[in-house]
This record gives sequence, structure tokens and C-alpha cells, in this order.
Amino acid sequence: MRPEPPLALLAELTHRCPLRCPYCSNPTQLTGAGEELDTATWARVFAEAAALGCLQVHLSGGEPMARRDLPALVRAAQGAGLYTNLITSGVLLDAPRLAELCAAGLDHVQLSVQDAAAAGGDRIGGYAGGHARKLTAAAVIRAAGLPLTLNAVVHRQNLNNLEQLIDLALDLGAGRLEVAHVQYYGWALANRAALLPSRAQLEAATAVVAAARRAHAGRLVIDYVVPDYHAARPKACMGGWGQRFLAVSPAGRILPCHAAESIPGLDYPRVQETSLHAAWYASPAFARFRGTDWMPSPCRGCERAEIDWGGCRCQAQALLGDAAATDPACDRSPRHGLLADALAEAASAGQDFAYRQFSESNIRSDGIV
Ligand code: SF4
Ligand code: FES
Repeated sequence: MRPEPPLALLAELTHRCPLRCPYCSNPTQLTGAGEELDTATWARVFAEAAALGCLQVHLSGGEPMARRDLPALVRAAQGAGLYTNLITSGVLLDAPRLAELCAAGLDHVQLSVQDAAAAGGDRIGGYAGGHARKLTAAAVIRAAGLPLTLNAVVHRQNLNNLEQLIDLALDLGAGRLEVAHVQYYGWALANRAALLPSRAQLEAATAVVAAARRAHAGRLVIDYVVPDYHAARPKACMGGWGQRFLAVSPAGRILPCHAAESIPGLDYPRVQETSLHAAWYASPAFARFRGTDWMPSPCRGCERAEIDWGGCRCQAQALLGDAAATDPACDRSPRHGLLADALAEAASAGQDFAYRQFSESNIRSDGIV
């Protein structure tokens, strides 16, 4: 089966970031500044993505504002015909830098917040003063006339503040709020006991979202999905492996998902040697979990096989050590009980985090190299 072209490219420009979020989706082995792709290589990658059929590029990291050449990267992506979305923590974004990005053709900004107020936000992000900088960044983004999405990663330690997060999105003029539950691999798996929400918290949050969607229809779109640990069926992670999206890591690995390097034994091609087209259509790594042929029981023959595509390969790897197993988030998985065990452990766990660490030899104090 020849796959459809991808819809979007996730460009992980850098792993450098001033924040230290304990649920960071970056790999636990971070790429240093010296290994990052240069401007010209990223420009070629954007052109290849557009030629492959991608409609948009998500400029992400780490913190993409840590790249001094970000305006040149936006200009290259825009010139290739891609819709450009900047995914940022906002702490390095001020009016002059945003003006440069706007002049380069930036289309949209997705701004993360760690909590509704400064005390919680700064503690969770591990960055004093970060929340205030984010509020300033949001004002700058709206003053420039750019559409704004607020991205709130939620978990046990901030889910009770969901109403305030929705109010914050409205106050900041966001058109969309992504209420994204933590995905538990990498750093987040190491902090799982401190982050997993309870069933009662989840039910309250779901009711808050339903009421807010009614109250703010036409003004604020709220994206919200019930998290795996409280769901009976897994999500169609990435819309299916190698079916909708591709990612390129800071060092140039072409990946079916941002966390795919957590799966051992797959030889991901590099942009230095392989075109995105060849990676998408001909690489064994992209073909490995594409479609349904790879599926074990109970996915094989399941009526949902082409709906959720067997769930998340990275979660199966993280929890079972086997990326080719049914995602244990599915209650048909023989290992589904692991999730209930994790929830029980979290119910009596403390609040302390193991923060993401980035070697000082790879990052300057202002986060910009
Ligand atoms: Fe999805 Fe597999 Fe569970 Fe069926 S058995 S619902 S395909 S994860
Ligand atoms: Fe990699 Fe789900 S995060 S497949």
C-alpha cells in the first residue's frame, strides 16, 4: 500500500530550552547545539517537505527561539509554500524578535503555559519569572495581529486550575486552547507518579471543558482528549505511524513521530543522506508500523484496527519494552492492568519533580547560541 503524502512536518530545530518541564517530550538524551542542522540544511528540508505534499511546518524544539537564525528559517519555510506555526514557551519572545518573524512570514503562534498563575507555572516549568514573560509574549503576539493558540499541558498538579486556564486563554485573546494531557514516555514517564491525575480530577475537568465550550462557542475553540490512563481505547497516535506526519530531529533524523528515537532497532534515515521523499516512501523505519500488517493479537482483526492503528508505538515501547505490542492503554491488551497499577501508585505519591536537565556545556545561560 502506497501511503498518502504527509500533512505536516514537525521541525525540531533544537533541544536547547531555558525551561525544564518535567514532562518534556524531548528524548532524555538531548542533542547539543554543535550537532544541530544548519540554516541551509533546514531550508532544503522545508523545500523537500513542501514538494512531498506537506501543507504546514511546526517550528518546535526545545525552544525554537533559541535559534538566532529563526527568521531565516521562517522565511525559507514560507518561501517553500508552507504554513508556518511557531511552537514556543514565549520566554525569549519580545516585540523586536516577533517583528523579525512577522517580516519573514510567520503565520501562527502556539504558546505554552505551565499553569494559570505565576507560582505554579514557574515551579512546573522550573524557570523563575517565566509565567510573566509568557503573558508579555501573548500580548506582543496579539498586538502583531497573529492568531494565537494557547497550549496548556495538564496533569495532577494543575488540572484543578482548568477554569482559570480557560479564563487566561480568553484574557490573552487566544482563538484556540489546547488542553493537552501529558503523554507518559521519556521525561514524563520518569515523573509519572507526580503527574498522573485522579479519576475524580479528570471527570471534573471534562465537565469544565463541556461547560466552557458551550459558554464560549464562536470565541474560543477548546481541544481536549481524555488521557490514555483513564481511557478504555488508545488514541490513533500521530494519526497512525507514517501516515500523516513526519518529524525531523535537531540532528537531522527523519522520524515518524517526535519520540520515535525511544524505539531501539529502527534505522531512521538522516536528512544529510536521504530525502524526505525517500524516507517517507521507501525507508523500512517508516514502513515498520504503518497500516495493519505488523499488528499482533488482539489488534489483528479488531474492528478498530484502522481507527486507532493499535495505539502508540512509543507507549508500548516505554511500558512493555516492545514497540510491536498492542498499546497497553487498550483494555483488550493483556497488559492493560499496568495502567491501573500506575494510577494506584500515583494516588499516594508526592509532588516533587525530576526536572529535565540540559548539560551546561551545551547551553548558555540565556538559552541562545
Ligand atoms: Fe485498537 Fe488494538 Fe485495542 Fe483494537 S485491540 S481497540 S486495534 S489497540
Ligand atoms: Fe511515538 Fe505515539 S508518541 S507513536
